[in-house]
Amino acid sequence: MEATVLDHPLCQHKLTLIRDVKTPGSLFRRVIEELGLILAVEGTRHLPTEPVAVETPLERTQGRRMLPLDPVLVPVLRAGLGLLPSFLQLIPTAKVGHLGLYRDHDSLVPVPYYRNFPPLLDQRIVFVLDPMLATGGSASEAVRQLKAAGAKNITLCSVIAAPEGITRLQADHPDLRIVVCALDRELNDKAYILPGLGDAGDRLFGTL
Ligand code: PRP
Ligand code: URA
Repeated sequence: MEATVLDHPLCQHKLTLIRDVKTPGSLFRRVIEELGLILAVEGTRHLPTEPVAVETPLERTQGRRMLPLDPVLVPVLRAGLGLLPSFLQLIPTAKVGHLGLYRDHDSLVPVPYYRNFPPLLDQRIVFVLDPMLATGGSASEAVRQLKAAGAKNITLCSVIAAPEGITRLQADHPDLRIVVCALDRELNDKAYILPGLGDAGDRLFGTL
């Protein structure tokens, strides 16, 4: 499926703030949350709804509402946690699954270390949250695990993607919907995104 790159002026402005190496962690976290709000709006564009009657103070009309079974948000630990509050702000009834993965520094292969998914994944709309899509290894593994647990309708929401990561995901999971704020140039020889913003998890949590 074609990836959606938002390229919105507000995304561009906020991305410039978090790309800046001088931006302190407190501001970095806040701006990631602001970008998370934009991603939550755009990432949920295809959320299915059903018709429902509603009584306004003036008349009865037809509205729409989300399906009874709430969506699932799955932040990929750690950096995905930075996007979670924004998504929960807009979808407060969402269930939250957690998936712990870290990239092995030498092999770049994602190493799973924690997993806790809510039930009925096969009937829910699932959003994978991870600000960085570099080689695509972590996101691909996250989607693989979710599909193995039954998920059928999955959207990945990321702040910055490298072309390599998009290509990898489209090959591994052609049915995956991908929404990113920006598409950067390339990966460096350590698989960091250029120009990127460095290590998102370290900058979010002060572990530099
Ligand atoms: C970062 C990021 C992604 C992954 C992207 O996590 O948050 O999960 O790297 O890289 P990939 O596309 O090449 O797999 P990291 O492994 O640094 O863990 P952290 O979030 O705990 O810092
Ligand atoms: N993970 C990050 O946090 N940043 C990158 O540039 C690549 C992977």
